[in-house]
Amino acid sequence: MNNKKIEKKYNKKIKELIRFNKLYYDKSNPAVDDNQYDELKKEILSLEKKYKFLKNENSPLKIVGYKPSKNFKKVIHRVPMLSLANAFDEKDLKNFEKRMINYLNLENDFKIEFSAEPKIDGISASLTYKNGKLITGLSRGDGSQGEDITENLKTIKDIPHLVKAKDFPDEIDIRGEVYIQNSDFKKFDTKFANPRNAASGSLRQKNSEETKKIPLKFIAYTFGYAKDLSINTQSEYLKKLGQWGFKLNPFNKTITGINNLLKNHDEVEKKRKDLDFDIDGIVYKVNQFKLQKRLGSVANAPRWAIAHKFSANYGISEIMNIEIQIGRTGALTPVAKIKPINIGGVLVSNATLHNEDEIKRKDIRIGDIVKIERAGDVIPHVVSVDIDKRKEKSKKFVFPQKCPCGFDTIKEFNNITKKFDAVRRCPDRGFDCDKIAKERLKHFVSKEAFNIDGLGKKIVENFWELKLIRLPQDIFNLDYNKIEKMEGWGRQSVSNLKYSIDTKKKISFDRFIYSLGIRHIGLESAKLISKNLKKFKNFLKISDQKKLYELSNIDGIGDTQICSIENFFSNKTNLKVLNELKKVLIIDDAIVDKNDGLLSNKTFMLTGKLEGMSRSEAKSLIEKNSGSIISNVSKKLDYLIIGNKPTKRKIDAAKELNIKILNQNEWLQLLNKTS
Ligand code: IVH
Repeated sequence: MNNKKIEKKYNKKIKELIRFNKLYYDKSNPAVDDNQYDELKKEILSLEKKYKFLKNENSPLKIVGYKPSKNFKKVIHRVPMLSLANAFDEKDLKNFEKRMINYLNLENDFKIEFSAEPKIDGISASLTYKNGKLITGLSRGDGSQGEDITENLKTIKDIPHLVKAKDFPDEIDIRGEVYIQNSDFKKFDTKFANPRNAASGSLRQKNSEETKKIPLKFIAYTFGYAKDLSINTQSEYLKKLGQWGFKLNPFNKTITGINNLLKNHDEVEKKRKDLDFDIDGIVYKVNQFKLQKRLGSVANAPRWAIAHKFSANYGISEIMNIEIQIGRTGALTPVAKIKPINIGGVLVSNATLHNEDEIKRKDIRIGDIVKIERAGDVIPHVVSVDIDKRKEKSKKFVFPQKCPCGFDTIKEFNNITKKFDAVRRCPDRGFDCDKIAKERLKHFVSKEAFNIDGLGKKIVENFWELKLIRLPQDIFNLDYNKIEKMEGWGRQSVSNLKYSIDTKKKISFDRFIYSLGIRHIGLESAKLISKNLKKFKNFLKISDQKKLYELSNIDGIGDTQICSIENFFSNKTNLKVLNELKKVLIIDDAIVDKNDGLLSNKTFMLTGKLEGMSRSEAKSLIEKNSGSIISNVSKKLDYLIIGNKPTKRKIDAAKELNIKILNQNEWLQLLNKTS
């Protein structure tokens, strides 16, 4: 065969490989079985080996994997995988420590000990070991449910398949970060923009042989479920992890005092550029497990840990245009479309301008040369304008007074600050404003709400433009035949979409409430409301003032939330949406915590300061024991707990209604916790 013929044969095989890849990864519809596919790859590789002149950027040698799969089995994490709140400066750190000291009611000058661990920018994974054997490996997923990527994780050399140490718990989820070293990333000709994306993509390959080719690394730093783990501190745990054969971050330290945390942060930040792995900050964890347990968590982040981010990266660019985006709550957010620039390894083409007042204050105009700041995963923003470079003809930016839906916008009066908000809004008309509706739908399908795989923001946007979905119920009544005929869709991808939508027709009550996107009702409030109302049936009755009053009695739900709920229920479209969703969904009743605690069915109210415990800790102690807290003295109240300097009015009201009054000790006796 002459060279030309060989090249022709080779190119034909490459073309075939591209087609197979596309069907396999994009459409999840393999054209051939794995053996035939591997055979083809082998043929290509042997041709390349034999005839050195053959080159193609789609060679299996060059392309590591293709696109990640969306079809892994979902598994619930026995202990949720939480995320972390961020801190940027000394003030944030001081607040973090102060909040904990208040919660734990410790002396003001108490110094908490921290485990300080550089935060590797990779992908977290949870490895379940039973009797020393690695059984399953999950991705984080949405925190409560991950994907079973065991086979892929098993290809990582740093992950032991068997731990023989005597003191290794019979059952434990070891958690840590999967990442790629920068030097290794450079060696590979991948399609990924940065090492983190490459790690994520490699972990989600369908075929673990593909994952095996990538030198992924793993460092361990925490645990989920653990049986009989008799360890008292995080630093002790890290030490044990090392003894059990797991790799650790070499820069982990135990530190006390904010000043020392800052010093360490500076030192590590200086080393950052010389490290072979990307770190984007330092994680501080309260070292004592006892304190961690008392502190617990809020929504999806622990109170006892924080990520101290490294300082920002800057870049200079030009504002090409200023667009107004309307958010889910009606806020008009101006966004600068800038000439794309690379800031610290990320291509930035949008920067937020925050609000109307910010544009006025900084006099930001289209055509201006501006300084852009990007800090970690926070949205880039415009820091300042280079006035010297301003073009002569430039004009002040006029902020629109109307929402694109046609309604006038408003600035709300804030009752706390006694000022008008800086943010201009389309008054919350819910689904009646097209812009808000679209954002509501994106929220509805998002990770923490319905979490519908394969129905991301772009697809929602596309389906909206095509009028396939306008209201949430439309998602469950999609015309799949029509979608199948649309460009970019095929039989397999439509059937995947249908499958993921159908599996989400059953949802927990709290997620359902959250997914409606009612302003001021986040995950935490949704949980409180669902626990109180118990059944979706009761949610539908909220327009009834009595039910609304009941909600206002929940500790943690204030006037702002009540007003917003009232507003939501006064809108006819919202009521229609609820009624339609009722027809297609199965909304589970709230899981009421085992109501067999020591304070079961009893209601409490606190007044005055308790000894050695903050109000929040007392509240969670009551709730952990199946009691509930209410915020008004009424006939519904069983006990009024009084601490130091109680409010006399509350005691009088309780006496009037014959409500039992307890001091701290008497209350702790109910919990068998007397000192
Ligand atoms: S602890 C409570 N420790 O940061 C706990 N996380 O934003 C959360 N991460 O999903 C996890 N290094 O991917 C913890 N030493 C470390 C970490 C770390 C990196 C990542 C992890 C997690 C995210 C939280």
